[in-house]
Amino acid sequence: MSDFPKSIQLKDGTIASLHVMLESDLDNVIKFFQSIPDEDRLYLRSDTKNPENVRRRFGKLDYDLKYPLLVKIDDQIIGMATLFRSEYGWMRHLGEIRVVITQDYQRKGLATILTRELFFQALKRKLHKIQAELMDTQLSAITAFERLGFRKEATLKKHVTDVKGVRRDLIIMTLDVEDLWYLIDDYVKTPDFRIH
Ligand SMILES: CC(C)(COP(=O)(O)OP(=O)(O)OC[C@H]1O[C@@H](n2cnc3c(N)ncnc32)[C@H](O)[C@@H]1OP(=O)(O)O)[C@@H](O)C(=O)NCCC(=O)NCCS
Repeated sequence: MSDFPKSIQLKDGTIASLHVMLESDLDNVIKFFQSIPDEDRLYLRSDTKNPENVRRRFGKLDYDLKYPLLVKIDDQIIGMATLFRSEYGWMRHLGEIRVVITQDYQRKGLATILTRELFFQALKRKLHKIQAELMDTQLSAITAFERLGFRKEATLKKHVTDVKGVRRDLIIMTLDVEDLWYLIDDYVKTPDFRIH
């Protein structure tokens, strides 16, 4: 927490800031989800246009189990990424990452910066594996996660139903934390590590 806020530079030179979400950000987060266009919301797990769903998920924060990062320009949220972890049971060493970037700021390296930050959090929490769940039609997101070191591990046929009621394959992409150490070593050496 003490490392935040951080100043970051996007690929086009825009300066933004990276924050850990506070409970007082909730109204702003609700606004952010409402601003996401339908074609991107299609892939989100719950109907985030409904403030109740956002409130249920982010109203009460326990950073060990749910670690949300926000990207802001002034007070406007332009991106969000969260590391989720199960509390008990055989999934407790598994983390899940979910990312949403507002359309005007996509392809500027934000998902990459956010996900890398969450990788450090995954290591702190001694997670063994991180996963991302995507629909087969999310080709850009699949490419983005592949670029970050995730690999397709499983395809569950007709496992999910999109908001239009169409049954889709669920792609499970994973990254083993042992591999993460090598990736992080590369990140800190590469010039596109843009956190100041
Ligand atoms: C998927 C998503 C998170 C990517 O965010 P982003 O900030 O645009 O990603 P980055 O700029 O860090 O892109 C990293 C790489 O991913 C790939 N990529 C990202 N968007 C892409 C697109 N639309 N088409 C093709 N490749 C894409 C590229 O290889 C890119 O690197 P490059 O720009 O140097 O070629 C964003 O498009 C989004 O929020 N989509 C809607 C919600 C969603 O699908 N979330 C994922 C579910 S968890």
